[in-house]
This record gives sequence, C-alpha cells and structure tokens, in this order.
Amino acid sequence: MLIEAINIHKAYPGPLHVLKGVDLSIDAGEVVAISGPSGAGKSTLLHILGGLDLPNEGQVIFRGQNLYGLTDVKRAQARNTEMGFVFQSYHLLPELTALENVVLPAMIKENSRKTSTIEFAGLKLLDQLGLGPRALHRPNQLSGGEQQRVAIARALMNGPKVVFCDEPTGNLDSVSGHAVMDTLLGLNHSHRVTVVIVTHDEKIASRTQRVIAMKDGLLETPVLSK
Ligand SMILES: Nc1ncnc2c1ncn2[C@@H]1O[C@H](COP(=O)(O)OP(=O)(O)O)[C@@H](O)[C@H]1O
Ligand SMILES: [Mg+2]
Repeated sequence: MLIEAINIHKAYPGPLHVLKGVDLSIDAGEVVAISGPSGAGKSTLLHILGGLDLPNEGQVIFRGQNLYGLTDVKRAQARNTEMGFVFQSYHLLPELTALENVVLPAMIKENSRKTSTIEFAGLKLLDQLGLGPRALHRPNQLSGGEQQRVAIARALMNGPKVVFCDEPTGNLDSVSGHAVMDTLLGLNHSHRVTVVIVTHDEKIASRTQRVIAMKDGLLETPVLSK
C-alpha cells in the first residue's frame, strides 16, 4: 500500500466540518479518481493526502510513514522528492520557459544551479509529452492543454511515487482535457507512477481504474473497482 488515510477530519472556523472521518487506501501503481460535487471536500482531502494541509484528526501513512508525524522540513522534503502536484490553473511561473519550469523541482532538490544533467532530464520529459519543440517557450505562448502538460512534466521531474492532480482538466475544453488524461494514463503505464485525480467531471473519472465518490465530507461506498 502506498497511501493510507485513517479517519481524516478537517474543520474550518465557522465551524465548517469539511471532512468527517475519511478512510482511504491507495496502492502503488493505481490510477484513482476522487469525484463528487463542488464543495464535497475533494480538494481538502487531496491536500491532506499530499501533505499540503493539516488534518484536525486522523493519520496519513505514506510509504509506511505518518506524514503528519514528520517535521515541516521532512514533510516538505517528502513532497519534493516523492510526490508531484498538478493544479487546475497549472501554476507555472510566467517569466520562466517551459523547460525552466519543469526543472525547478530538481533544482530545489539538488540545491543547485541548473546543471546539464537536470536540463537533459527535463528536456527528455518534455519530449515524451510531445513538447520538445516548445521547451523554450513561455507559458503565455502555450495553449492551456500544453501548459498543463508542462505542469505534468514538472510534477514528474523528481521521479515521484505519486502525482496528485486537482481538477487537472477543469480549465480545458473536452478535447484538450482528454489529451491531458491520455498523458496521465500513459505516464502511469510507462513510469509506474500512482495517479490520484480529483475531478467533478464523470467522464474524466470514468477513465481511471477506480472511482471514489465523495459527498458532504464522506466517501460513498461501495468503492467501485474495474
Ligand atoms: N481554507 C478554507 N477556509 C474555509 N473554508 C474552506 C477552506 N477551504 C475549503 N473550504 C470549504 O470547505 C468545503 C469543501 O471545499 P473543497 O475541499 O475545496 O471542496 P471541493 O474540492 O470538493 O469542491 C467548501 O465548503 C469550502 O468552501
Ligand atoms: Mg476542489
């Protein structure tokens, strides 16, 4: 098992009880969708699975380690080296080229200026995603789907065990959205990387191996497996 979430609760002041005791496990190599209506708590859950937000109660065991038992620094290191993140609005740095965006996590990890090895790896990833010729373009010179594929390449840069995607197709038309899904599914196959996709789009969710339906802060059972 790669990730196990046990009895996750999250509340915001209000009080707003957003996650009401979520239990979930994800195996290495799976592609899982977390689907459900807006406001169900999907993003909150994804952030907690990925060490980005603290639960009020419960544990996330990632590769045998309690994520929230780690110091902030160790948890940040785990995020940088073992997890990739893809967001709805890409979160690329506009002043950097596609390649510079992609290699950023490796530069942080190696604590170094960009080396030819890192650049070569970044270019190889962009090439795999069909974006080799766009390596020196800035985000505003790329379509939404291309920007999202750059963000996916960046998420893969440090060879993560899992890529967490929050509405990765949410800003895209249906054709570009499905192309982004093709990319994610292809990378699951070629890199054996686990992929967790939050989406409110049922067509996107149905392309994964397992759909976990979420409503009002709880997972709906049964969890369907293909
Ligand atoms: N930082 C926050 N502070 C207060 N409320 C929040 C915060 N983040 C999310 N919420 C609330 O929690 C609920 C679930 O949000 P979210 O996890 O983003 O749902 P989803 O991704 O399924 O649309 C919503 O009612 C939202 O307004
Ligand atoms: Mg959301």
